Amino acid sequence: MNQSNDAIQEKLLHVLSGKSEEDPFSVFAEVRQEGAVMPIPNPMGGGDRQAWVVTHMDEAMQVLKNHHRFTVDPSSIDSNRHIRDHIASTVDSSAPQTFFTGKSMLFVDEPDHRRLRKLVSKAFTPRYMESLRPRVQEIADELLDQVQAKGEMDLVKDYAYPLPINVISEMLGVPQSDRAELQSWSSAISNGLGYGRQDPTAVANMQAFGEYTAQLVRDKRKSPEDDLISQLIAIEEEGDRLSEEELISMITLLIFAGHETTSNLIATGTMMLLDNPEQLDKVKADLNLVPGAVEELLRFNGPSTTTGPRFATEDIELGGQPIKKGDMILVMVKAANRDENKFTEPEDLEIIRKVDRHLAFGQGIHMCLGAPLARIEGDVAFTTLLKRMPNLRLGIPRKDVTWHFALSSQGLGSLPLSF
Ligand code: HEM
Repeated sequence: MNQSNDAIQEKLLHVLSGKSEEDPFSVFAEVRQEGAVMPIPNPMGGGDRQAWVVTHMDEAMQVLKNHHRFTVDPSSIDSNRHIRDHIASTVDSSAPQTFFTGKSMLFVDEPDHRRLRKLVSKAFTPRYMESLRPRVQEIADELLDQVQAKGEMDLVKDYAYPLPINVISEMLGVPQSDRAELQSWSSAISNGLGYGRQDPTAVANMQAFGEYTAQLVRDKRKSPEDDLISQLIAIEEEGDRLSEEELISMITLLIFAGHETTSNLIATGTMMLLDNPEQLDKVKADLNLVPGAVEELLRFNGPSTTTGPRFATEDIELGGQPIKKGDMILVMVKAANRDENKFTEPEDLEIIRKVDRHLAFGQGIHMCLGAPLARIEGDVAFTTLLKRMPNLRLGIPRKDVTWHFALSSQGLGSLPLSF
């Protein structure tokens, strides 16, 4: 690498550490200029195994769509067994496994992936999700009823967080009284995982989350109800389609993935609209534009920075770079979603843009299972908010709003609004 490469790599690593004050998107633009694929030090150690970031759309698609050449399970490559061992060694081995350490669909290859995903895919079809729309609407209205008369709210605490956690909890059958705790575990997990970093608090929260879920499964085994967890328990009891470990991993994955990201879409999405008043006015003038606006918000600054890591199963060239078997690849979806080769004026938020493809939900076999649900929640959340509170504005000076970039999830601790 030449000197300018080195400086850009430094900046990128600083941004990925979550400690940089710099705008991550301007750093991603600089990285894209250097090429589609850039080497970085391997965040998991890994001896001579190199890591790479992918920032262009075409190469990102190549990685995500080619699951034979790029696996999600490093232990399937002999030389990489240490990576899973490293992750497993940070948690108490007698504790129930969560989606992170156990066998969830996110971290297994075919044929296990297909088997696990098929068990729940019926509960996430666009058609079934549409049937939930009236209930999502009710939840959104109930939340806004509680603050409407006050003329102000904290969007994060009062709306963006409770909406998705209540929806996914009702689907799964998580008792109302436990939802706040789940939310706090999930936030601690996503804030505590970073580039080569697992804070001890994240690990402790993961363990508490796993223990809670194991207890919930024991309770539901005794008294099943009409919910997704009870259906999964029935499948597990049949014997050969789902093991106990996979069951707990699946439930923790659905709870975690089912609300953390969507909350971010609603909170950060609202902030982006407030930052772009002409776009906010456009969508307020015609609420039929909301579904398209949600796609553009996902492209422009969606909740996920990267997909989960992939590992090359053979030596391969990607974007002109020599990737070796076992190397780790991080697909930076936030960067690929602003690829100048694919979008005109990619750094502008344009809610009527025709977005043919973005990577906010990933691509290929691991593409987000919950995308149809997230889209409905986003549609209902923004439509209801803008319809009921058309004079929405920031309740504090813009400089006091802190949006924190992170590798696993972005953070907006609070967003005080007046209306
Ligand atoms: C705006 C909201 C959401 C965003 C941006 C998002 C993003 C993503 C991304 C990028 C992936 C792919 C990860 C990879 O390839 O490594 C993914 C996978 C997944 N998401 Fe979402 N997600 C969202 C909402 C949801 C919801 C509501 C659920 C509901 C349970 C959900 C469940 C899942 C599951 C189960 C997977 C794993 C799929 C597999 O491995 O086959 N997500 N999500």
